[in-house]
Amino acid sequence: MAIDNRIFHIEMKGMVDRMEYKITLIGGDGIGPEIITQARKILDRVGEVYSHNFVYKEILMGGVSIDETGVPLTDEALKIAKDSDSVLLGAVGGNVGQSNWYSLPPHLRPEAGLLAIRKGLKLFANIRPAILFDELKGACPLKEDIIGDGFDLVVMRELTGGLYFGDRSTVTENGVRKATDTLVYDENEIRRIARRGFDIARKRRKKVCSVDKANVLDSSRLWRTVIEEVAKDYPDVELSHMLVDNCAMQLVRDPKQFDVILTENMFGDILSDEASMITGSIGMLPSASLGEKKLGLYEPSHGSAPDIAGQDKANPIATILSAAMMLRYSFDLEEEADKVEEAVRSVLKDGNRTIDIMSEGMKLVGTNEMGDLIASYI
Ligand code: IPM
Ligand code: MG
Repeated sequence: MAIDNRIFHIEMKGMVDRMEYKITLIGGDGIGPEIITQARKILDRVGEVYSHNFVYKEILMGGVSIDETGVPLTDEALKIAKDSDSVLLGAVGGNVGQSNWYSLPPHLRPEAGLLAIRKGLKLFANIRPAILFDELKGACPLKEDIIGDGFDLVVMRELTGGLYFGDRSTVTENGVRKATDTLVYDENEIRRIARRGFDIARKRRKKVCSVDKANVLDSSRLWRTVIEEVAKDYPDVELSHMLVDNCAMQLVRDPKQFDVILTENMFGDILSDEASMITGSIGMLPSASLGEKKLGLYEPSHGSAPDIAGQDKANPIATILSAAMMLRYSFDLEEEADKVEEAVRSVLKDGNRTIDIMSEGMKLVGTNEMGDLIASYI
């Protein structure tokens, strides 16, 4: 009787603990589907080991959605994403010069799907960490005396305002073609991203560098004023300001000086590419886009690499690390997230490399094998 009771208790506990998480999966274009397959493999393994139920729904976005439905993101697909607990994305887009998608009007191109889902899910905060992995120091394009013992920074990019979402038009006036984009921010948009930046800094080395172009732009001057106001609530966090052109230079001159770089949409787009490049391994960097709620969109920082699509060459690590960020930020599964990140490091320590991070003496593995190896460490 006592034994029966115990078994019953264990089963009950299992049922109570086994949380269900609804994940929207977006393979997208190019290498997207194959790297998403690997991330799903890792999540399934985490589910097995830690008794979580990850339930997936796949939706179309980007070029595949255009081919199938005529638009880069349908309302139905967006609704599925909205109704889930989190979204994991591979990549969207094709070769601009080659693909027919780019002869369509801008709002019907693959990237418009990405902008629509960011806006539709109200994901205003984009977190892009740039970490120099010890194992990959050799791939860093910076000189050794600049790298020192490595760097670990985060670009916190505003994601649903600025030039990306301001009014735009192309007209012909008196036979002269004229195009306009507008950079708009209101103080509330600035305040909410600022809070996110300071919150993240608090959990790190407590330094925020706010990046703007306040010597020229009104939007940047308002940005700076509001950042200063918010900083008053975070006396424990050190705030500095930097002009964006200087920041682009400082990132290659001395990346160690940065902890959290807090910036608007367009500057963040550019600086985050630069930050990822100096790690030497854009195939390694994850990202998270968050809003007010737990629902987030997680994707690798790299693009769809159509040239190597379907050849088992793509590095799935950025997507797998994005899934780890999802576990941490959307599901509060800190231990599981740590485990995935550790597994990635272990596989690299063992000398396994995809082609993009391959160096002498290492073992070359494909996309699928890389996924298997990481799963085996969980
Ligand atoms: C990124 C990309 C996108 C952006 C493009 C594909 C629209 O470059 O996520 O950084 O500019 O936001
Ligand atoms: Mg970009």
